[in-house]
Amino acid sequence: MQLLKRFSPILTVIGIQLVVLIGLYLLIQGLWQGFSFSLSLWAKVSIQAAGAVLVSYLFRLPLWWIAIQFIIPFAVVLAIIFDLPTWVYPLAFFALLLFYWNSADERVPLYLSNKTTWKALADLLEEDRLSGDNKPIHFIDLGSGFSGTLVALARQFPRHTFTGAETAPLPYLVSIIRCQISGLDNVHVQRKSLWDVDLSRYQWAYAFLSPEPMPRLFKKVISEMPKGSKFISNSFVVPNNPPTDTRILEDRRQTELHIWDIN
Ligand SMILES: C[S@@+](CC[C@H](N)C(=O)[O-])C[C@H]1O[C@@H](n2cnc3c(N)ncnc32)[C@H](O)[C@@H]1O
Repeated sequence: MQLLKRFSPILTVIGIQLVVLIGLYLLIQGLWQGFSFSLSLWAKVSIQAAGAVLVSYLFRLPLWWIAIQFIIPFAVVLAIIFDLPTWVYPLAFFALLLFYWNSADERVPLYLSNKTTWKALADLLEEDRLSGDNKPIHFIDLGSGFSGTLVALARQFPRHTFTGAETAPLPYLVSIIRCQISGLDNVHVQRKSLWDVDLSRYQWAYAFLSPEPMPRLFKKVISEMPKGSKFISNSFVVPNNPPTDTRILEDRRQTELHIWDIN
């Protein structure tokens, strides 16, 4: 059941491609029988890709799945043209799975906070240090990816402790190596689901996830984080729970950092 849940968006993606393929087949037959007109190979591939994008959009699949839907028909045809060996497909799928472990069931893909965001988080920590009692802080990145955010902050704030929770196997492995290479002893990553983290130990929690887990995550934050702590969400808000403050960053995507003071 758990496995089915993890793969359900992937099954939806495959199902949509198959349904569009049936539609394309009927269209090809209709054009040929009605008008003796035959589509070129790339016209067929483009129609398949556009159809898959349209149906995925109507099914409200997340944007990254819609992009994948567009790529699939072209990738399959190119693979056939260049006669790639069959083991390439499961291998590519497996490699993607190790990176995008949480895209399917958690609906959280892997994309990374940029350096402008690292700097904004550092500025917030610095503001807090100047206005507060200057005690060491425990900071957690919930879904820490390759740990770039954590290592950058750990280097700048040696008195604070930075922890990551990450379940995707390859990002976790990269994180372990990165933390080791950094030589810092105030940054650690755990192979742990963010749902299993005890947030009562942390004064700051940062998350860059997707709209999907936000309501459940916010409930966890409110019930576990200590009074006076801060929860920061990169880009994603919590329905019906406006943040205490929002910082709009001066990067290309105008990143929004939503900050909640936990009282
Ligand atoms: C958008 S990336 C953000 C990475 C990093 N926090 C950053 O800002 O650069 C989200 C990460 O959360 C991880 N993730 C998603 N659901 C998770 C869960 N339940 N437990 C732990 N990690 C999770 C994904 O694997 C991915 O690496």
